[in-house]
Amino acid sequence: MREQFSTVNPNRFLTSAARIEAPQERSKIDTMLRIGPLQLDIPFVQAALSGYSDLAMRRTARRHGAPYTLNEVMLDKFILQPGKKRREALEVSPDDHPVGGQLMGSDPDVFGPAAFELAQAGYDVIDINFGCPVKKVLGRCRGGFLLSQPDVALDIIRRVHDAVGATHPVTVKMRRGMDDGRESRRHFFEILDGAFDLGVAAVTVHGRTVRQRYVGPSQWKFLAEVKRHVGEKVILGSGDLFSAQACMEMIQRTGVDGVTIARGCIGNPWIFEECRALWRGEELPPPPSIQRQRDAIASHWCDSLEIYGHKHAGRVMRKFGIKYAEHHPCASEVRAAFIAVNNWAEFENVLELWYNPERDWPEVRRREGHGDLIAAGATAEPLRVDAP
Ligand SMILES: Cc1cc2nc3c(=O)[nH]c(=O)nc-3n(C[C@H](O)[C@H](O)[C@H](O)COP(=O)(O)O)c2cc1C
Repeated sequence: MREQFSTVNPNRFLTSAARIEAPQERSKIDTMLRIGPLQLDIPFVQAALSGYSDLAMRRTARRHGAPYTLNEVMLDKFILQPGKKRREALEVSPDDHPVGGQLMGSDPDVFGPAAFELAQAGYDVIDINFGCPVKKVLGRCRGGFLLSQPDVALDIIRRVHDAVGATHPVTVKMRRGMDDGRESRRHFFEILDGAFDLGVAAVTVHGRTVRQRYVGPSQWKFLAEVKRHVGEKVILGSGDLFSAQACMEMIQRTGVDGVTIARGCIGNPWIFEECRALWRGEELPPPPSIQRQRDAIASHWCDSLEIYGHKHAGRVMRKFGIKYAEHHPCASEVRAAFIAVNNWAEFENVLELWYNPERDWPEVRRREGHGDLIAAGATAEPLRVDAP
């Protein structure tokens, strides 16, 4: 039988960056990020990233200093239906803690049992998605759509909290509203306040609206307003975090307790080391050398091989390779080489050819900006149809 979170000492699974707090330690950890009983030594979290934040990416982020990572969003009903998706979702690796499991759905009745399953499987935090802007998701009354339905959203939070809140922190991810209208704003604060009244440990706010999708900036001033509004309650900020400096700046400018790094850490695990350095008051470390890029990609690759096997790992790693390529001094050639990868042997060839540290490479420059990656199923276009 699987060991239960509540019956074992969870610290033995955790990296040194994260510990479940013992009560007497409370006073000395005020500068850390606190998500319920979880104490993170730096306030920089790896966001939930559909299509990306699988076990291999999460391990890579941890190796580079991420104190907490979230799995990709999971559909609540898949957690309850027997099958491959359920098996995959409930597979939590002993070296992957603390990890958040994020749920999305539309029916409050389904959320509680699904959250319970995630908690039993070993997720340390249960997160609820009220942010996804993908048209199909909205059409099925899930994700960001629920920002327009505060009663349903709060019912979902209540069910999840009732199911797992006694043993696990429950958190919520929201965009700043469905759109820029007054009603959206009212709904946002109704859900935010209601969520904290129900006992959620933290709320992550992405400063874009659902209609905005990924067009235009994330409104950091809204994050500042949210933080002022909730006082001591824990807010994590999201949106436009493509460098360690931006992560520090969001905390300093908005007062949020921590940040979730999303597009900024795909193919860029070094951002966590850079955040650590800045958080300690040190200079930024140099951009990753070819040797360090090779090491990170090779370990990521080994984890992908372990998870997906030789048949699929090459294809899965291609999309990460494209993002890793942005650090390479010959970025466009390396990107093209990764795009051409169809199997594991071709992936390893790219690594041998383009990441040979013995070769004389031009200077590596730090990657900044999100490239052209938007989100699976979400286009750069603002949402043109009326959300249901
Ligand atoms: C490819 C992709 C997948 C995403 N998947 C999720 C997800 O599964 N759950 C979630 O809450 N947010 C998801 N997001 C949103 C991000 O976590 C984050 O809030 C958003 O990208 C804004 O941050 P950024 O501008 O720094 O990238 C996703 C974003 C991208 C680009």
